[in-house]
Amino acid sequence: MTKVRAAITGIAAMVPPYILTNKELEMMVDTSDEWITTRTGIKERHILKGDGLGTSEMGSAAVKELLKKTGTSPDEIDLLICATVTPDMIFPATANIISNKAGIKNAFSFDMNAACSGFLFAVATGSKYIESGTSKKVIIVGADKMSSITDYTNRDTCVLFGDAGGAILLEPATDDCGIMDSILLADGSGQPYLHMKAGGSSRPPSHETIDGKEHFVYQEGQAVFKFAVTKMADISAEIMGRNNLTGEDIAWLVPHQANLRIIEATARRMGIGKNKVMINIERYGNTTTATIPLCLWEWEHKLKKGDNIILAAFGGGFTWGSIWVKWAYDS
Ligand code: UT7
Repeated sequence: MTKVRAAITGIAAMVPPYILTNKELEMMVDTSDEWITTRTGIKERHILKGDGLGTSEMGSAAVKELLKKTGTSPDEIDLLICATVTPDMIFPATANIISNKAGIKNAFSFDMNAACSGFLFAVATGSKYIESGTSKKVIIVGADKMSSITDYTNRDTCVLFGDAGGAILLEPATDDCGIMDSILLADGSGQPYLHMKAGGSSRPPSHETIDGKEHFVYQEGQAVFKFAVTKMADISAEIMGRNNLTGEDIAWLVPHQANLRIIEATARRMGIGKNKVMINIERYGNTTTATIPLCLWEWEHKLKKGDNIILAAFGGGFTWGSIWVKWAYDS
């Protein structure tokens, strides 16, 4: 019996209109465009403004666009997974809220939290439902309103993050394309270096946690950098090695966009020229689970059926992963 693969058959994204530039940040904290650009590669990021608007606002907009673009009825969707670290609320799952907003009524849906690797974890999980024959149409959303957990008085983190949402459709592949292989890993001993201190069950919100600014991203940048630069490169090299792929075989590397220096190190290790690396960090910053779908969305018009694409990410947890995709359509 031939193996059924899951193919990406469509992609859409939503980027909120407001742009927060390095110049504006210079007026908010002690930083400079020069520091931000040379250390991170970021020039600007988009911020979702508006009372009561959360991650589902961007996720549902991306899903509605995806359904329209692919000519899919909401009733046809079997499963929707939302990768996010900034759910609208602790429960119910943002995936449920997105499904409701997009008119998806015949599906089950749940959230997945693997921080910046969340989109990859969700793609790998969604693929299994297709491969097993359980589901025929699966939507994977990567959406984060990072501005909701960013302290705009802390220069260590406020220059890094932005808001966005992306969504892809997975369907059974009709030929030898689709999600070919994936490697996912996690190491919980990384928790001290990248986390949000309060708001969960171990430290519920209180006056003390608010006063202590514990509801924001906390990151020890250098420690995370060291892990990220090694692990993202290692896992990308590993997925290529075990599938006998060389840099020549790869059409595109799609790396998580946390820092231009990490992206460049990963590409070097894989033997891939910068012209084959999707990089848009300068315009969006680190949108956590949305970075990879945002890249695929922006580059979709250049992708050709059969292109070998490596998706790679590293994030809080620590979590990291790589996925080898054979692109399934000419756009
Ligand atoms: O997406 C999830 C995974 N996350 C990552 O992969 C992020 C990994 N880490 C990084 O990308 C980098 O560590 C950062 C971009 C976060 C920081 O860059 P760095 O080169 O590691 O800088 P640093 O933290 O070592 O700070 C160097 C100096 C410090 O000053 P002193 O102690 O040398 O006087 C910081 O206080 O830069 C200072 N600094 C800033 N200066 C101007 C930190 N943030 C800023 C800022 N503007 N925004």
